[in-house]
Amino acid sequence: MATPTGELDQDQVREFLERVAGDGAAAFAALATSIGARLGLYEAMAGAGALTSGQLAERTGLAERYVREWLAVQVAGEYVRRDPAADTYVLPDEHAAVLADPSAPTYFVGAFRMLKPLYAVEDDLMRAYRTGEGVGWDEHGPELYEGTADFFRPGYVGMLTQEWLPALDGVVAKLERGARVADVGCGFGVSTLLMAQAFPNSRFHGFDYHAHSIGAARREAEKQGLRDRVMFDVAPAAEFPGSGYDLVAFFDCLHDLGDPGAAFRRSRETLAEDGTVLAVEPNASAEPSELVGPIGRAFAATSATLCLPGAVAQHGPQALGNHPGEAALREIAAEAGLRSWRLATESMTNRVYEIRP
Ligand SMILES: C[S@@+](CC[C@H](N)C(=O)[O-])C[C@H]1O[C@@H](n2cnc3c(N)ncnc32)[C@H](O)[C@@H]1O
Repeated sequence: MATPTGELDQDQVREFLERVAGDGAAAFAALATSIGARLGLYEAMAGAGALTSGQLAERTGLAERYVREWLAVQVAGEYVRRDPAADTYVLPDEHAAVLADPSAPTYFVGAFRMLKPLYAVEDDLMRAYRTGEGVGWDEHGPELYEGTADFFRPGYVGMLTQEWLPALDGVVAKLERGARVADVGCGFGVSTLLMAQAFPNSRFHGFDYHAHSIGAARREAEKQGLRDRVMFDVAPAAEFPGSGYDLVAFFDCLHDLGDPGAAFRRSRETLAEDGTVLAVEPNASAEPSELVGPIGRAFAATSATLCLPGAVAQHGPQALGNHPGEAALREIAAEAGLRSWRLATESMTNRVYEIRP
């Protein structure tokens, strides 16, 4: 390590140390959050009012001693309120909306579920950083894919049919009449199934190159009784089958592809006349100094450990990372013959692009 030159400002050192130590504490606590979500502890506390550790242990069938220790983490992080006199704990309803209800648009536990599989490939990532090779999306443990679906679901539940599709010119009217839709890189099909629920006259085809995800998507379609109008098939984005699609959608996956240009070319080939390509991408700047803050930081971190290595593993012409910037995406689309580009709408976390030939 190079020796620092000049006197250190000790106040700045202490201030920075506090910030990093806070990040470390949050990282330690993240494991308890994941355990609590997986063991149903938050769910058991939701709407239950004040509980003792014994009552919570009984509700969940868990060992009281561990539950008590877990509750201390929750109190320390101000996730749970404690009444020392009564020896009880409460999960406020507002916190339950974030921690306990997977169908709520504010649920934020998916990120914690992604940590275990990401840490599991730390050595592979270090090798990738040394060699420039990738770590494929398909090389992770199953929790990564479940966590990803949990991570994106709340945003789609809150925005997809209410804000994003209506922001596209004429698309909702077509979907109401009966349209053909391809959802490329669909993962567990969360977006596909939400659209199918909302538009009963339309047919939906989800594609992903990852067979495990397609299996999960098919099971969910079956469970929701949608197999007659929703199909899921394994197919790479550059070669997905079909034609005459009124809408070809890429939800949070365009930047994960090794060859986004080929995916755009295939979209153009399969579009119906007057069809639309929809790309939902992270709302994160290509300029690192604009990534300061929790959202930009989360995108930057997942890009460096998941999205970029996944795209590199596909040995395509581009590995974008999840914040390549609008100009880069627009140029790739134009080269693929999709020259009409419009930012249809944006939220704190996403930008929604309407793209046409
Ligand atoms: C971040 S996940 C998003 C999944 C899904 N769209 C969602 O929003 O939940 C990225 C997805 O892109 C898929 N993917 C990556 N490269 C692909 C490729 N070349 N062809 C098809 N799918 C691909 C992955 O398997 C994964 O399901």
